[in-house]
Amino acid sequence: MATRTVAVVLAGGVGERMGAGRPKQLVEVGGRPILAHAIGAFDAHPGIDEIIVVMAAGHLRDAAAIAAPFRKTAAVIEGGDTRTASTVAALRVLDGRPDDVRVLFHDAARPFVDRPTIDRVLDALDAHEAVAVGIPSSDTIVVVEDGLVVSMPPRAALSRFQTPQGFRLGTIRKAYELALADPDLRATDDCGIVHRYLPGVPIRVVEGSERNLKVTQPLDAVIAEHLATEVNP
Ligand code: CTP
Ligand code: MG
Repeated sequence: MATRTVAVVLAGGVGERMGAGRPKQLVEVGGRPILAHAIGAFDAHPGIDEIIVVMAAGHLRDAAAIAAPFRKTAAVIEGGDTRTASTVAALRVLDGRPDDVRVLFHDAARPFVDRPTIDRVLDALDAHEAVAVGIPSSDTIVVVEDGLVVSMPPRAALSRFQTPQGFRLGTIRKAYELALADPDLRATDDCGIVHRYLPGVPIRVVEGSERNLKVTQPLDAVIAEHLATEVNP
C-alpha cells in the first residue's frame, strides 16, 4: 500500500543554547540518544508509515547509525542552516507524492512525544489541513517593548506550541512555495509558514503534553534524564 503518513524528525540544529559540544539530539537521556527516543515514538506508532530524519551537517553518520534499527526509517538527509531550510530539505524528498499524504514535522529535541498526542494530530488531520499541538501556559505572558509591558493577552487565550505539527502535504508544500518566494521570509515554525502564507487555512490546535518538553537548555537535560528513567510514567 502507498505511504499515507510520513513523520519528519527535524534534527538539523546544533544545540547552541545547550552547549553540549555536539548537537543536543545526540546527547543520551535514559541511556539512549534524544534522537533515538524521538524516532522511536513514531516508529512504534501504527499510524506512521515512514520516517525521514533531517540531521545537522557533519553528523549524518551518527544520525544514520541511530536511525538504522528503526524499520520505518526511509531516509536520513542533511538539513539546512535554519529550521525552515531543514523542513524544505524534507519536503524535497517528498516531491511528487500526492497532495493528500499526511506529513508530521517533529522536533528531534522533544524525546517524550507520546502516542495519544500523535493520535490527536492524526485524527485532527481528517478534518483539517494543518494541525498544531499546544498546551496552556502556566505563566502569564506579556508583550514587552523597550523594557515596558505594552500588552497582556488573556492567559486563557494563549497556547504554548509543541510538535508534531501535522499537514496535508499539498498545503504545506504550497505554503513553503510562497514563503520561499518572499524575500522577507523570517524564521518561524511550520504552522507559522501556513499562518502567514495561507491565511485562509485554519490551523487546528490539539492538546499536547507537559512531558513533551523540548530539550533546549542544560536544565532541560536534567529534567529529561529524570523523565526518561521514571518508573510508570
Ligand atoms: N532544527 C533543524 N534545523 C535547523 C535548526 C533547528 O532541524 N537548522 C531542529 C532542531 O534540531 C530541533 C528543532 O529544530 O530538533 C527545534 O530547534 P531548537 O530547539 O532551536 O534546536 P537547535 O537549533 O539545535 O538549538 P539552538 O537554537 O540552541 O542552537
Ligand atoms: Mg534553534
